[in-house]
Amino acid sequence: MQASGQDAQRTSERPAFMELAQSFVRRAIAVCTTTVHGAVCWCGTVEPSEGRLYLHWARSGQGERRVIAVRINGTDHQLRDDPATPLLWILRDRLELRGTKFNCLSGQCGVCTVLVAGQPVRACVTPLSSVAGQDVLTIEGLASSDGHPLLRAWLAERVPQCGYCQPGQIMTALALLQRSPRPSDAEIDATMSGVLCRCGTYQRIRRAIHRAANAPGKGS
Ligand code: FES
Ligand code: FES
Repeated sequence: MQASGQDAQRTSERPAFMELAQSFVRRAIAVCTTTVHGAVCWCGTVEPSEGRLYLHWARSGQGERRVIAVRINGTDHQLRDDPATPLLWILRDRLELRGTKFNCLSGQCGVCTVLVAGQPVRACVTPLSSVAGQDVLTIEGLASSDGHPLLRAWLAERVPQCGYCQPGQIMTALALLQRSPRPSDAEIDATMSGVLCRCGTYQRIRRAIHRAANAPGKGS
């Protein structure tokens, strides 16, 4: 695999003292932000669980760093980081792919779902080491395939309300359609109820999945 230009540059430009400084700043932010934003934002319109976010973030990336090869949305990366760092932070912080959202940071809500080798995984509890040599697909990768039937169906059924959970819903629906090209209502409900939508868009999600299942090129 070839390192992307950006990662190669970051790897060579981050000396040890910068890592130390970064670690210090992370911990300082964690303490301050947790104090101020300790309560969960329930409306879901801003980054929720901000306090937990920073604690989670501060605790990641503290171990010995290794170079790990991974392909993300069709691009090969050589990522030098703590192998225990959750994939979520690699996507959002290192690669600036912020379409993948977060909420519980404990594998419960499904909002951070991405596909690894075609399987849905929760990026907040998936260590970087476990995706070494794998293909990762995020909502950005799906959106780059022009007019994907699932995205068209989502728009046609006007699924999103606040929109926060929708990347996780769409990636979960994609995996469902790849596994079961014409899913029943029961299959859809069983799968999609695992991804928390505070706005209650499940009826529209179900219609959108049926629409995508009947469209040409579905689930590809
Ligand atoms: S943020 Fe809830 S499962 Fe990852
Ligand atoms: S949480 Fe608002 S659309 Fe799902």
